[in-house]
Amino acid sequence: MTTSAVTLRSIHEQLHELAAINADPAAGGITREVFTEHYAEATAYVAARMRDAGLEVRVDAFGNLFGRLDGRDRTAAAVLTGSHIDTTLNAGAYDGVLGVLGPIEAIRALREGGWAPERPVEVVAFAGEEPRFGSGCLGSRALVGSLTRAELDTMRDRDGVSVAEAMRRVGLDPDRLEDVRLDLAGVHAFVELHIEQGGVLEAAGVPLGVVTGIAAPHDLRVRITGAAAHSGATPMALRRDAFAAAAEAAVALERLALASPSGSTVATAGVVHVGPGAINVIPGYAELHVDVRDHDLGARTTVIEGFRAELRAIAQRRGVDVAVDTITQDAPAVCGAVVVDAVRRACAELGQPSRDVISGAYHDAMVLGPHVPIGMIFVPSVGGVSHSPLEFTEPDDIDRGVLVLAATLRRLAA
Ligand code: HGY
Ligand code: MN
Ligand code: MN
Repeated sequence: MTTSAVTLRSIHEQLHELAAINADPAAGGITREVFTEHYAEATAYVAARMRDAGLEVRVDAFGNLFGRLDGRDRTAAAVLTGSHIDTTLNAGAYDGVLGVLGPIEAIRALREGGWAPERPVEVVAFAGEEPRFGSGCLGSRALVGSLTRAELDTMRDRDGVSVAEAMRRVGLDPDRLEDVRLDLAGVHAFVELHIEQGGVLEAAGVPLGVVTGIAAPHDLRVRITGAAAHSGATPMALRRDAFAAAAEAAVALERLALASPSGSTVATAGVVHVGPGAINVIPGYAELHVDVRDHDLGARTTVIEGFRAELRAIAQRRGVDVAVDTITQDAPAVCGAVVVDAVRRACAELGQPSRDVISGAYHDAMVLGPHVPIGMIFVPSVGGVSHSPLEFTEPDDIDRGVLVLAATLRRLAA
């Protein structure tokens, strides 16, 4: 795809090559979790693509990968762009990856057209955007200084492995967390190209989304303790069934989200553990991990408080003990005018229709939002599907997104 000054080579081959770096191909999707050998292989692959584009490559102490193009003014604050190359479980080929391979190709094509930016431009692949350890965006939190050394020991994955232990297994030193802090005064703006992961653009028949805000999660771990007992010999009226209580809680959560004052709150019980897990034992233990999101903080809070009240009522009614703790709690992000304006003008410059959208998914841009002006460019997800092997974005939409990113970078780095 070509515009006045940019001729893109398609990144489709690179997307497929990166998709092949997969820890669990048998599952049908892509699993490439942070701080694993597959993640290290993907980092090496992307670093090579950065070098091919003439970028100066470095990996920081947390595993964040950077590719830098110096500006004519080497001291000017840089334009940062990027996303992530780690995936959630059994995922698709575009989430995050497009926002790392896209800017590398955009910069390569711009330079081929003679571009020499005034400001430095830096591509980043943030380590650990997906919530393997419960909370996501670890690499960007490390860069802005909101991740503590203690959390690296307390945050654990589904197998009980801590962030610190996982880091050590791939040769990273969690005690060097402080070295990772980015000098945020050195960042002029941040822009992220990403698939929408929902169906708004497709339904509107618009190929580009100008992201104006990012919804944020408040995630809870709910531990329910009842009484394990014989499933045949225990009358219904004498039970303290932990899973039945959890099921009632999950349905109550759904009802609260549907009734949310904003109409945009979403809530999901994506992780359920039941113990002991025998067909003839009434569950004595159940654990729910729930994800509640909105860009409207007041509405999200209303749903969270309503859910806590429901849990207290269920505990009372069913004679079970319910313990609730917060897994992660982030503030919704507002995109910065300088970036939103650059994206809008880039779309117009290319004669491409666009529409403002709110991101229902969170991104590293959400973490950077309170510190530097952020913005995002969305391209459509076919069927609104993501976090699934069925995740797909049309090649033309991908190229269009990369071209708009190139035009946005050219504006921001001028
Ligand atoms: O969950 C999210 O929104 C992101 O994909 N990690
Ligand atoms: Mn994701
Ligand atoms: Mn993502």
